Amino acid sequence: MSDTPDIVLVDDDAEVRRAYGQTLELDGLSVAALGSSATALKALSPAFEGVVVSDVRMPGMDGFAFLDEVRRLDPDIPVLLITGHGDVPMALRALRAGAWDFIEKPADPVLLVETVRRALEQRRLVLENRALRDEATRDDAAAEDVWAARLIGRAEPMQRLRRTLAVLADTRTDVLIFGETGTGKEMAARALHDFGRRRAGRFVAVNCAAIPENMIESELFGHEAGAFTGARERRIGKIEHAHKGTLFLDEIESMPLAAQTRLLRALQERSIERLGSNAEIKVDIRVLAATKVDLLALAGEGRFREDLVYRLNTVTVRLPPLRDRREDIPALFRHFVATVAARDGVPARPVEAGTLSELMRRPWPGNVRELRNAAERHVLGLEEAPAASPAPAPMDGPSLEAMMDAAERHLLAEALVRHGGRVGQCADALGISRKTLYLKMRKHGLERDAVED
Ligand SMILES: Nc1ncnc2c1ncn2[C@@H]1O[C@H](COP(=O)(O)OP(=O)(O)OP(=O)(O)O)[C@@H](O)[C@H]1O
Ligand SMILES: [Mg+2]
Repeated sequence: MSDTPDIVLVDDDAEVRRAYGQTLELDGLSVAALGSSATALKALSPAFEGVVVSDVRMPGMDGFAFLDEVRRLDPDIPVLLITGHGDVPMALRALRAGAWDFIEKPADPVLLVETVRRALEQRRLVLENRALRDEATRDDAAAEDVWAARLIGRAEPMQRLRRTLAVLADTRTDVLIFGETGTGKEMAARALHDFGRRRAGRFVAVNCAAIPENMIESELFGHEAGAFTGARERRIGKIEHAHKGTLFLDEIESMPLAAQTRLLRALQERSIERLGSNAEIKVDIRVLAATKVDLLALAGEGRFREDLVYRLNTVTVRLPPLRDRREDIPALFRHFVATVAARDGVPARPVEAGTLSELMRRPWPGNVRELRNAAERHVLGLEEAPAASPAPAPMDGPSLEAMMDAAERHLLAEALVRHGGRVGQCADALGISRKTLYLKMRKHGLERDAVED
């Protein structure tokens, strides 16, 4: 099972090694008996599955210095020190220095075996926990990959957004998604559903701007036959349809006031009545709503119910406009070129550096959707017509500050990779203090771990 010995036994006295070694082996334990602590250190690593039993008084590195070294290697390797008989101060010192336990000379065989067995059990538990934790970390990393593959972007606001969404996905909290046109609101809503606990349920999207005003209530709440002229058959509404799943109310800013009142009641009671019926139907839904405008401002103009805003915005998630994360443009553009080409079964035309830097300078009022359209034109080999995206005024290019920011991030990331994530070396190489380096890493969302492998 294990390919490390149960016990690394260290004593400069060959006779003691033989006697203790025999005692332990007689009990079925495997022993590596070594004459010096320096040799013993070479036999140890964080993967060592056993325990260390060491004499204190030895020439060269004594038991205490050895204990320090072992703890530096892995503070959870149990070290059992054999102290002089009746030497209480030394025994206390051993415990304070982090020894797992001590045994007085001459060691009583039964006590020795018992103590070693307890230490072995302790070691086993530590390693088991460590393995579980590593697995959990790997799972977390895998989950992060899933989000990063869906919502592309390494810019700090995108990383923050993904972290927030990942937390929200596993809750039933209603979320208001706020962002300019084409920033990815619907995409965020779908990801919340697909990666969340309700993924087995339906994702029901309602575009409030696309439904005629006189239809929206029956669309949402359903109706009984004969509820109004033209309602020939019973109809299940979108809210009921979303039972046990997610209801996505897109462009909620366009919802008429009357429907808002009814929606507010439904959200408060978590139940609805179909039009033309008084029967209450319980619904278990999670509501995600998207808006391009500030709903509270709209409420200020009397065009939206303020109480509904507060009902919807338990949590508000803001999607950053593309111009605030220009560093993501190359990755997004390449991604769209690849997916569009794959969809159409045509080769993905290479993207030149010049094209990318030109794209990074544009204002992108249509945000990611506009970029996606540009990628479609690129795949088709159509020249970018300046009319499609007006030449940016000089002010629209990245500011000096943004460019310096991007350059700083790039240099930091490069240094971290070059030095294998060793912060001390990086700081030296860059001529800044470790503290400054840490602050800058945080500012740019750089992680030492992320670059270590
Ligand atoms: N971070 C992203 N990574 C990859 N694709 C994205 C990202 N954000 C948006 N997209 C893509 O951009 C397009 C527009 O996104 P989406 O429809 O979600 O935007 P929206 O905010 O709902 O737009 P609108 O306000 O017009 O309704 C979609 O094709 C979507 O897949
Ligand atoms: Mg949308």
